[in-house]
Amino acid sequence: MEVYIIVIAFFVGITGAQIVSGGQLEVNTCDRIQRHGYPCENHTVTTPDGYILTLFRLPHGCLEMSDKGEPRPAVLIMHCLLCSSDFFVLNGPNDGLPFMLADAGYDVWLGNARGNIYSQRHVNLSSLSEEFWDFSLDQIGLIDVPTKIDYILKTTSESKLHYIGFSQGTTVFMMLLSSQPSYGEKIKTAHLLGPGVYFCHLRSPPALLIQKFLGRPSGLANIIGTLPSQGFTGILRLLGSNVCKFPLFTELCIEILNLFSGWDSPYLNRTLLTDLLTSTPADGSNQQINQYMQFITKCEFKRYDYGAEGNLRKYGDSKPPIYDLKNIHLGEPIEFYFAVNDFFATPEDIHSLFDEIGMQGNWNRVKLKKYNHFDLVLSINVKTCINNCIVDKLLKYEGRPFNGTLCKCFRNKAFEEG
Ligand SMILES: *[C@@H]1O[C@H](CO)[C@@H](O)[C@H](O)[C@H]1NC(C)=O
Ligand SMILES: *[C@@H]1O[C@H](CO)[C@@H](O)[C@H](O)[C@H]1NC(C)=O
Ligand SMILES: *[C@@H]1O[C@H](CO)[C@@H](O)[C@H](O)[C@H]1NC(C)=O
Ligand SMILES: *[C@@H]1O[C@H](CO)[C@@H](O)[C@H](O)[C@H]1NC(C)=O
Repeated sequence: MEVYIIVIAFFVGITGAQIVSGGQLEVNTCDRIQRHGYPCENHTVTTPDGYILTLFRLPHGCLEMSDKGEPRPAVLIMHCLLCSSDFFVLNGPNDGLPFMLADAGYDVWLGNARGNIYSQRHVNLSSLSEEFWDFSLDQIGLIDVPTKIDYILKTTSESKLHYIGFSQGTTVFMMLLSSQPSYGEKIKTAHLLGPGVYFCHLRSPPALLIQKFLGRPSGLANIIGTLPSQGFTGILRLLGSNVCKFPLFTELCIEILNLFSGWDSPYLNRTLLTDLLTSTPADGSNQQINQYMQFITKCEFKRYDYGAEGNLRKYGDSKPPIYDLKNIHLGEPIEFYFAVNDFFATPEDIHSLFDEIGMQGNWNRVKLKKYNHFDLVLSINVKTCINNCIVDKLLKYEGRPFNGTLCKCFRNKAFEEG
């Protein structure tokens, strides 16, 4: 016991020293990509309300020395809550979706939502101010995602792109398309992993606990809502990556992750654990967390709830407006990927989504019974189970040679028990 305390105290000390010295990330997404011999560019785009967002781009695959002139369809990939573009490149070129897509002939763009480690600048505001942090999922969905889509289309001279989202990346996509349906015309195909719209059956114990405190508008939720979060998540990253790299702690760390994302999954790629914890949690506003907690409490997909008074000021109504999913219209069915042991995007809640927009989607439920939330991106079998299938569907859409037998990991009937 004492040994643990000493070890932990030691790392807290190191952490403190690193925070004082700036707490900067040592490697960014481009470093992680280039380390494998792939090209990478970083781009910034400014939103109408002044946030400066970073996009990382894999313009082509590693084997091609340069663009040979054939069109490279654009893909935008959006990350989870408190995550960044790093999340998708952790498993390297053989298994990571961005690399696989680049090698298959796509122009791959990795987004970063306002407030995460790569998007903490603003034309006027300091990232230490409360005004900077006064945003929720709504602004990410209604401002950041369309700003990025338009920037990519302008830069590539394309008129449409493919969208891939994981977790929060799916929530903000559904917000955008239900509020600004015309964006459906700019989407070729959409692939939503661990889709988060309804959270009535969420099973993650830590989230259920936090929800008790932050699931309703309150003084506490208001104060926490706009508190800058950089320092705290920086400490978690340093602690996590420094402690969990020791074999003694590795299994404990994985159990803690599984407590969030789905109990007892054996599938996480353990090799990337340290790098995952070096890059995640990657910041975000506390209002994003509050809003998810509100989704759990009220079982509705709606705008941020500021409380009756605040809502009147913001929305002209004492209740926040609901996102109307009936507005969503895409040329192709949305591909939903989900798993039975996912503590966030539970099959019950996906079923509610299906009841509402069934015809608008293809419902891909992973067969493996212990597959959880993070497994949809970071498991050892993510390539054969998920990524090969996504790449193949994109190839098919583009009229390129595709395989047609690579989507084998899913049940025939998504919603029947057994
Ligand atoms: C983007 O690239 C520029 C120039 O190479 C570099 O100075 C900057 O730090 C990079 N930004 C990020 C977020 O990686
Ligand atoms: C930034 O500040 C300038 C000067 O006060 C103002 O004109 C501009 O609208 C502000 N921009 C944003 C995005 O807030
Ligand atoms: C697991 O992650 C490591 C480290 O990024 C990577 O080299 C390896 O290919 C990954 N393995 C699988 C099966 O995803
Ligand atoms: C499709 O993929 C499978 C598994 O990778 C492979 O065995 C098969 O040869 C491929 N078929 C075609 C037509 O490319």
